[in-house]
Amino acid sequence: MKIQDEQLVWVQAVSYEDLAVNTGKTIRYQGEEVALFKMKNGKLQAIQNRCPHKEGVLAEGIVCDDHVYCPMHDRKIHLPSGLVQAPDTGCVRTYTTKVLDGSIYIGFPIEKEMAS
Ligand code: FES
Repeated sequence: MKIQDEQLVWVQAVSYEDLAVNTGKTIRYQGEEVALFKMKNGKLQAIQNRCPHKEGVLAEGIVCDDHVYCPMHDRKIHLPSGLVQAPDTGCVRTYTTKVLDGSIYIGFPIEKEMAS
């Protein structure tokens, strides 16, 4: 299911209750892969699923506080900002999320929808 507003297309991902804490879930939409996480405090974080180093699958990484560690070479990525932490560099895209009627929705930029 999709909902569109002025800036984003909201794509239904998974039930909030079904998403385990600190365990990533891969969500695919029009060729884009998102790693979705529910933190210990119940907040949601969504980032691009591929590590900027060598495309490790971040949904399979270990979550600790506000960070995920890439499962391939252990780079540390800050979930709210998408920034790779020092001494490494780089960043991944972040996505907005919302919960509606018990389902998690991920917001994709409208341009993505129109480009397909
Ligand atoms: S692929 Fe993620 S740290 Fe190398």
